[in-house]
Amino acid sequence: MSELALKAEKSDAADELAGVRSQFVLDDVVYLDGNSLGALPVAVPGRVEDVVRRQWGELRIRSWDESGWWTAPERIGDRIAPLVGAAAGQIVVGDSTSVNVFKAVVAAVRMAGEGRDEIVVDATTFPTDGYIAESAARMTGCTVRPVTPAEVPDVLGDRTAAVLLNHVDYRTGRLHDLPALTAAVHAAGAVAVWDLCHSAGALPVGLDEHGVDLAVGCTYKYLNGGPGSPAYLYVRSDLQSRFDSPLPGWNSHAEPFGMRPAYEPAPGALRGRVGTPDILSMLALEAALDVWDADGVSVGAVRAKSLALTDFFLECVASYVPSGRVESVTPVAHEERGSQVALRCADAGDVMKRLIERGVVGDFRHPDVLRFGFTPLYVGFADVERAARVLGELVR
Ligand SMILES: Cc1ncc(COP(=O)(O)O)c(C=O)c1O
Repeated sequence: MSELALKAEKSDAADELAGVRSQFVLDDVVYLDGNSLGALPVAVPGRVEDVVRRQWGELRIRSWDESGWWTAPERIGDRIAPLVGAAAGQIVVGDSTSVNVFKAVVAAVRMAGEGRDEIVVDATTFPTDGYIAESAARMTGCTVRPVTPAEVPDVLGDRTAAVLLNHVDYRTGRLHDLPALTAAVHAAGAVAVWDLCHSAGALPVGLDEHGVDLAVGCTYKYLNGGPGSPAYLYVRSDLQSRFDSPLPGWNSHAEPFGMRPAYEPAPGALRGRVGTPDILSMLALEAALDVWDADGVSVGAVRAKSLALTDFFLECVASYVPSGRVESVTPVAHEERGSQVALRCADAGDVMKRLIERGVVGDFRHPDVLRFGFTPLYVGFADVERAARVLGELVR
């Protein structure tokens, strides 16, 4: 056994999260794509079957009340809240991340007030955020200013209305400094909107602690909610009365069944709701969140293991992959690293195809990035060693 394989064995034996692995449906594939679609928790199929057969099949319309369907967006929001450092009553689940980016950015501009007509957007953002910010800008009479997160403090000013940033860069895995950037946005009198897609469930976010105004995120990555599971919207409690949604649907009306012609927003986070929630996906997500209730599972423990996994992956890559064949674009410093490692590689698309054939699943991001996501709840150190070893064999 190689030195690295021995090290992996020892680390797996000492891993306090190792037991959680059995709560997921896994096979002999090394699954390093949980930053795109999380693995299936064992409890989900049974719960979905109950929702379909009993709640829908037998109780039918009664389930909106008796099975808690109507209140699911806020209830599940409160389950996500501790994972992103938020007190209850500030998160609603529903719609896609893209739709929630739209709600948040328009609401942020409306909150910022007169004279502020610039939306600062991460120039390296996941594309949907940029597209939506651009459209939101046109609708609100603003212009978009794309800059890198590092440049944000230099461009903030009296005209800045909102700043839309990613906590972790989807391509490089770089973790941005949420506390410092949020403070800079506030010092300029603007509203900070964070996209947590690549950080929630992988590392501490501290929304309340750092005074974030608005945030959005998906649930199908590190929260394992399933393909297309609904996203969420965080509105800080003291801003909720000023949250003026650009999508004021009947689900966020103060009296939804009053069927009034005039819109009057409900109090609290639920004014982020729009229309009828997608109950099947939402309740699959609720079941998936149960894994966080197991003994010893906490965001802190997940973060510690995530850093150990990504450190070990970089060590294994350095040892197994011929030098110069790949180049990591993920920061080495822990405080700048999310839960993925991105390697630039000349023929990345082809290499990823062959890795998948050899039972190591990551993904390819255009034009030359091999992306490996590490979900500490079900990825172990032996997986990491195998992934790097197979990569080394393939590119040698
Ligand atoms: C950072 C980021 N923002 C937004 C999205 C888009 O989310 P959705 O498809 O739920 O609208 C993704 C999807 O992967 C993402 O990674």
